[in-house]
Formats: sequence, structure tokens, C-alpha cells
Amino acid sequence: MFESRGDVFLIAGILFFVVAFLVMGVLPWAIYAGEGEQTVEEIAAQGILHEFVELRESFPEEFKRYYGEVSEASFAEALRLGREVYVGEGCWHCHSQQIRPVSNEDVRWGPVSHAREYLNELQRPVLLGSRRVGPDLVREGALRSNDWHLAHFYKPSSVVPVSVMPDYKWFFDEEGVPNKRGMAIVTYMQWMGSWLDEYPYFLGGGPPRHGNLESAGPDSTSAGASP
Ligand code: HEC
Repeated sequence: MFESRGDVFLIAGILFFVVAFLVMGVLPWAIYAGEGEQTVEEIAAQGILHEFVELRESFPEEFKRYYGEVSEASFAEALRLGREVYVGEGCWHCHSQQIRPVSNEDVRWGPVSHAREYLNELQRPVLLGSRRVGPDLVREGALRSNDWHLAHFYKPSSVVPVSVMPDYKWFFDEEGVPNKRGMAIVTYMQWMGSWLDEYPYFLGGGPPRHGNLESAGPDSTSAGASP
């Protein structure tokens, strides 16, 4: 024991691992152990996102066919399906859902994530993610318009020319109108972070910040990702 430098590093490594496990795993669990997990219905009862209503306005016929009317039940259905699509399509291979308190991540993406935010059905299994080929998405809500998301899912390079994100043409019907899964994933994206007090004014800005290319001057970019 402690005979060589290697031993010291080994013991230190194990200690760091144990402390990280206690602080990141056991402690949050102990703090929130008594609190119940929110169901999607409870989330929907807190308010229907205007972007979901907007989908109905943009695609009335298709929306009616897939979701019927705008209601807490149909909003909950879209959120639940959106999460399923996110998991099923493997979006988590390239996107995280956790802003960490390091490396100025809050400057880049918005308020740091807290354990409490993950106590709901839409985070089962938790989708923190460990790779970031693309940006973190947990504060994506209201950052972009529905139209931006739709164009982006149809062909990411049409809005971000250097994008390596794959096309998701199967979120659309033959006419290019989003299908049930397409509407669900957009709703799910717009929900991200909507539970925070800061929403939708992450990073000191307010909507519209992105998505409107015509008004994107120096002012609108200064509210964005740059420190
Ligand atoms: C191969 C990796 C990869 C996969 C898989 C992937 N993405 Fe992306 N995504 C990216 C990259 C890279 C960007 C940044 C460039 C861009 O905006 O297209 C991005 C950007 C985004 C953005 C825009 C974020 C912003 O506001 O700038 C959203 C939203 C998004 N992805 C959602 C998804 C969803 C939902 C899925 C699954 C259906 C998915 N991505 C799958 C790589 C990926």
C-alpha cells in the first residue's frame, strides 16, 4: 500500500469514484426519496404548450386525425409518444439532456440541471446521455419555432448547412406534412425546460431569438450562445 505512485493514483481514483457516486447518485436519491414521480397526465395538467396548439392551427386536418382536439389528454399522448420516438430513434446517441455545472455549460445552453427535474415519467429511463455529437436538448423548448424543427427534421442541412444529423423523413407523409410521430417529437422538443421559472427566457433572452433569420442581426445573436 502506497509503495509506489501508481498505488496512490489507484486509491485516489477509487475514492473519487465513490465520492462521485455518493454525491451524484445517493444524495439526490436520499433528498427526493419521499416525493412521488410525476405522471405525464400531471405534467399536461400544468398547462398545454402553445406550440402544441400551433400544430393544430398549422395542420388542422392531420392534427384532428392523429390527436383529435387540443386537450390535456391529447397533449399527454403527444408527449409520451415524443419520448418514445426520442428513445426509439436513438437521439440520445448524439444528444444529452443534462446541463452540468462545469465548463460554462449554463452560458451555452441555459440553467444548470437539478435532480428534481428528472422525477417524472418522461425521464424513465433517464435520458441524461453521455455523448454530445449535437447540442444538449434539455432547454430546447421555445428556442426554435415549430417550423424550424420541422424543416430541421426533414433535412437538417437545410437550416444548418454543416449539420451531420441524419434526415428523419419518416416523420412526414408524402406531402411533407408531419405525421403523428413528427408532431409528437416536435411537441416533446418544445416541452424541454418548460417546467423552469426561467422558461422561455433562458440565457437572458426571450423569444423570438432564433428561427427568424430575417431579423437575425447583431442584437439577436448577442442574446444567444455567446458569453
Ligand atoms: C448522428 C448524431 C445525431 C443524431 C442521431 C441526432 N442528432 Fe440532433 N443534432 C446533431 C447535431 C450534430 C446537431 C447540430 C447541428 C444541427 O443543428 O443540425 C443536432 C441538432 C439538433 C437540434 C437543434 C438544436 C438547436 O437548437 O440548435 C435538435 C432539436 C435535435 N438535434 C434533435 C434531435 C432529435 C429529436 C433526434 C432524434 C430523432 C436527433 N436530434 C438525432 C446530431 C444528431
